[in-house]
Amino acid sequence: MFLGIEEKGCYLNIKGVVMRLSGRIVLVTGAAGGIGRAVALCFAREGAVVMVSDINLAGCSETLELLEQAGGSGCSFKADVTAEVEIRLLYKQIVDRFGRLDSVVNIAGGDCEPSADVEDIDYARMSANLDLNLKSCILSCREAARVMKPQGYGRIINMSSLVYRGSPNQFSYAAAKGGIYAFTRSLAMSLGRYGITVNALAPALVEVPAFVTALGQERWEMLRHDCAERYPLGRVATPDDVARCALFLASDDAAFITGQILEISGGARL
Ligand SMILES: NC(=O)c1ccc[n+]([C@@H]2O[C@H](COP(=O)([O-])OP(=O)(O)OC[C@H]3O[C@@H](n4cnc5c(N)ncnc54)[C@H](O)[C@@H]3O)[C@@H](O)[C@H]2O)c1
Repeated sequence: MFLGIEEKGCYLNIKGVVMRLSGRIVLVTGAAGGIGRAVALCFAREGAVVMVSDINLAGCSETLELLEQAGGSGCSFKADVTAEVEIRLLYKQIVDRFGRLDSVVNIAGGDCEPSADVEDIDYARMSANLDLNLKSCILSCREAARVMKPQGYGRIINMSSLVYRGSPNQFSYAAAKGGIYAFTRSLAMSLGRYGITVNALAPALVEVPAFVTALGQERWEMLRHDCAERYPLGRVATPDDVARCALFLASDDAAFITGQILEISGGARL
């Protein structure tokens, strides 16, 4: 855990700043990715013990290493969130080891059919989008609820996207991310009386290494420039912009917020 001292019931880091997630057990899925890694590091800096999980074990272990180098602590787990059995095992391992889980940030996801005309929607890619983004989130939340309801406390944060509002050539991805919002609200209604909040994040374009790899530097720069021109704040988001919002929703500052979607968009769709 990050070096800290206790003062008047608060944990302070070495700079004397209050750590907002001191001792909390947190699970971050998609933790090898751009946003997942930033969330894992941000939560660790705030004193959480972070379980990092991803289908990419090497990337996930790298995240754990970075987190530990910075003085944090956690464990890494390989889990494919599209496989029900692996999601169940992931939660079982955490509960066996720690006996509880305070927060989960369901980040694993991505667009499996990024640009298709409606007539060209492909059944396999559409299914992959729903499996990876929506069904995985529902299953992870089911497992989280099984742990959190008896403990009477929990913070669930799901990763939607600004495309939940609609996007003209991302049909199945937009449907999955919109589904996450509907599911998040439903879950918030059901779990509130057990002390569990459920919220969603909806970023516009976030600068992550996966985009540069997928598009190449030149096309990525064009996309980033085009979006930055359109967003009122004049830039695209960084992974840290998203991590700080996740931190807020996981912290006591957001104790009375549930069923909400937080747009991290630089004002992209006002
Ligand atoms: N980057 C953006 O502009 C943006 C905007 C809005 C929403 N999002 C969402 O944020 C999340 C993270 O995206 P990112 O930008 O960090 O991309 P990323 O590709 O860097 O991260 C995604 C991570 O999910 C993991 N993953 C993929 N399939 C998996 C599976 N079956 N099981 C477990 N893990 C799996 C990948 O290995 C990767 O580490 C996604 O849900 C994405 O839809 C991203």
